[in-house]
Amino acid sequence: MELFSEERSAQVVAASFGNAPSPRLRQLLAALVRHLHGFVKEVELTEEEWAAAIDFLTRTGQKCDDVRQEFVLLSDVLGISMLVETINHRTGGASTESTVLGPFHMVASPPRELGENIALDGKGEPCLVTGRVTGPDGETLAGALVDVWQANAEGFYDVQQPGVQPERNLRGLFTADENDRFWFRTIVPRYYPIPDDGPVGHLLAATSRHPNRPAHIHFIVTAQGYRPVTTHLFVDSSPYLDSDAVFGVKESLVREFPLIDDPMRATEVGLPNPFRAVHFDVGLLRAYQEPPTERNSHDDRW
Ligand code: BEZ
Ligand code: FE
Repeated sequence: MELFSEERSAQVVAASFGNAPSPRLRQLLAALVRHLHGFVKEVELTEEEWAAAIDFLTRTGQKCDDVRQEFVLLSDVLGISMLVETINHRTGGASTESTVLGPFHMVASPPRELGENIALDGKGEPCLVTGRVTGPDGETLAGALVDVWQANAEGFYDVQQPGVQPERNLRGLFTADENDRFWFRTIVPRYYPIPDDGPVGHLLAATSRHPNRPAHIHFIVTAQGYRPVTTHLFVDSSPYLDSDAVFGVKESLVREFPLIDDPMRATEVGLPNPFRAVHFDVGLLRAYQEPPTERNSHDDRW
């Protein structure tokens, strides 16, 4: 084996993984080593900085438990989660764009009837959400499952406030009707900070970054034979749309939530007048369909 040298450090270390049976694992490790060594050389990392980085990663690991995943949060604020998400769910404009899952889909959404109100405590500005689920040729996807969850009007998910919010507040699993339509009642969510009491929060504070995400409703939409989409519907009047702490905003996902002042319509949908309303159509790609975009072919080999 070639001995270690500053000049050829990446090649020497990458070669040590050269017998890994999986070509993909070899490719991943070679590129990882190349980029890590390139980084250390570019910044001429000091021993103190290296020790601080190890300490940061150690604290990040120590903050993790069954419900808290500080490494995913780190990936989120570094934009890695969004990059992986975007690369793996290219749409070419042919379907609804995806965004991060986030950590708050930790309990199953309860199945609910179309039109049900998911705001179990009734607190917040009432809102009607309507939409359709279609395939790439506009075909009806009757029976599609629409899983939604959101923060309340103060920016907290039910799981963050046990005993304060009812269990499964602002969550629901809906089934699109025979015309592929879904609708439900809720309240307008508020923006909120990602969990910032750990190392990731300290990183944000130390770099003068705020921890907030703009107001949004989460969706996972699935239909047999189609690619599921994990996405958000963003509130267009929310602060932080242009500075989401996790880079999750895509313009195609932002919608107006106009105030509807129409007592007849309010009675019809079972909301007090006036109320907010938003329409969000979801398009899915077929499961076997290649996304119609170019694959970026950066050559990662030596
Ligand atoms: C969320 O939208 O629920 C979320 C996403 C990433 C990090 C924290 C929260
Ligand atoms: Fe969220």
